[in-house]
Amino acid sequence: MHTNELTQQEVLDFFNSVLGPQRVLTDSENLHIAGADHTEDFVFLPELVLQPQTTEEVSKILVYCNEHKLVITPRGAGTGLSGGCLPVLGSIVLDMRRMNRILDIDVENFQVTTEPGVITEVLQNAVREQGLFYPVDPASKGSCFIGGNVAENSGGARAVKYGVVKDYVLNLEVVLPDGSVIWTGANTLKNATGYNLTQLVVGSEGTLAVITKIVLKLLPQPAKDLLILVPFYSAEEACQAVNKVFLAGYTPSALEFMERDAIMAARKFIGDYSIPLPEAIQAHLLIEVDGQEEAYLMQEIEGIVQVLAQFSTGEVLFADNQKDKDKLWRLRRVTGEAAKASSIYKEEDTVVPRAKLPQLLAKVKELGKAYGFDSICYGHAGDGNLHVNILKNNMPDEVWKHELPKAIRELFVYTKSLGGTLSGEHGIGYVQKDFMDIVFSEVELQLMRGIKKLFDPNNILNPGKILPEYRVG
Ligand code: LAC
Ligand code: ZN
Repeated sequence: MHTNELTQQEVLDFFNSVLGPQRVLTDSENLHIAGADHTEDFVFLPELVLQPQTTEEVSKILVYCNEHKLVITPRGAGTGLSGGCLPVLGSIVLDMRRMNRILDIDVENFQVTTEPGVITEVLQNAVREQGLFYPVDPASKGSCFIGGNVAENSGGARAVKYGVVKDYVLNLEVVLPDGSVIWTGANTLKNATGYNLTQLVVGSEGTLAVITKIVLKLLPQPAKDLLILVPFYSAEEACQAVNKVFLAGYTPSALEFMERDAIMAARKFIGDYSIPLPEAIQAHLLIEVDGQEEAYLMQEIEGIVQVLAQFSTGEVLFADNQKDKDKLWRLRRVTGEAAKASSIYKEEDTVVPRAKLPQLLAKVKELGKAYGFDSICYGHAGDGNLHVNILKNNMPDEVWKHELPKAIRELFVYTKSLGGTLSGEHGIGYVQKDFMDIVFSEVELQLMRGIKKLFDPNNILNPGKILPEYRVG
């Protein structure tokens, strides 16, 4: 533990007195679980895992940590891809899984108030039962927590029509590092009252405050959706086609891109080869429309297919029943895991203005040739958000360690030149912080350091994240 004043036993005694010994974990299995997330193969073992159940407990924990300068890292379900919850300095992990109650579904006002440890899909299903819709669905929705989604400002496939987490957070109860409990906003759809503390905490990756309650805006549940899979003979053409759909006046509820290798990896990963992948097909677009009237949706889909017909496409697969839809979505959702399973890898979360997507993809492939790496590209094409999985495969260790970071830097510099940035939805966390200088000037970084210092003057809360100077190891 990073303290000069206390023995390990004194620290344990205190937390046992607050939480009881069942929720103060020190066994190796739990330390290992709390020491990793889905980001590459990083493991940073903490010394202690705390599982609070109430805001008051979180407050007591933080007061103590702040007083004794104990580093503490909040954690959701650990599905993050930028290492936001990795306890890079060891010490304490604040595991939020037991704060998992949905507190209130306010049907009349289209709002839900929830604790952070609720699985996103559980929340979606609970509000759907009341005819309400929480549209943000990260690929990991079946296991990620809503609190982690807020902390990382997650996106997912529906962002193209419905936006990302930040567009749904109305108000947050958070605990500051000194133990103060505050609400950041109001439970209103509009709010022009002072600085926007809510949005400052959204996406702050557990570095400013611990989120203990979340008020989300909801929408009416769309009655119907239609889904098609469109094969392309050229991956760049598939990317070019994306913007044409919008220019023709359509806003799909999802417009996803998967290059050939992404589909191949996903098919292999789930052992289901029933989705056709003819030899010459280089990429697919997965396109969903949703709304209340099926006849109208059919017209939309036909219109979209007509737009795409100006490109060289293969036979369009129309998923006309729930089973086929689930199959296609499953294939898309496992792509990240499938890429991870295929090789040691690094995942970049590049995002550019949508019309620049073809240039971004071309640059990834050009860099791959120059530096000798393979990549699997897929993602939320309708948002200009391309997940670039760089595979190590047979790349020598030395090149992987010393040359690849140069290629990634070049990719981000190019991304910035297109008007884009480092991360669309995975966050900066631990793995991207050394690239922050590409997209922010010293003046801008200094403002961020100031914000961090104001919230967390002792730097106890998730240090080593977002800002480059907290570099660890
Ligand atoms: C996805 C995750 C990796 O889109 O963001 O599959
Ligand atoms: Zn994604």
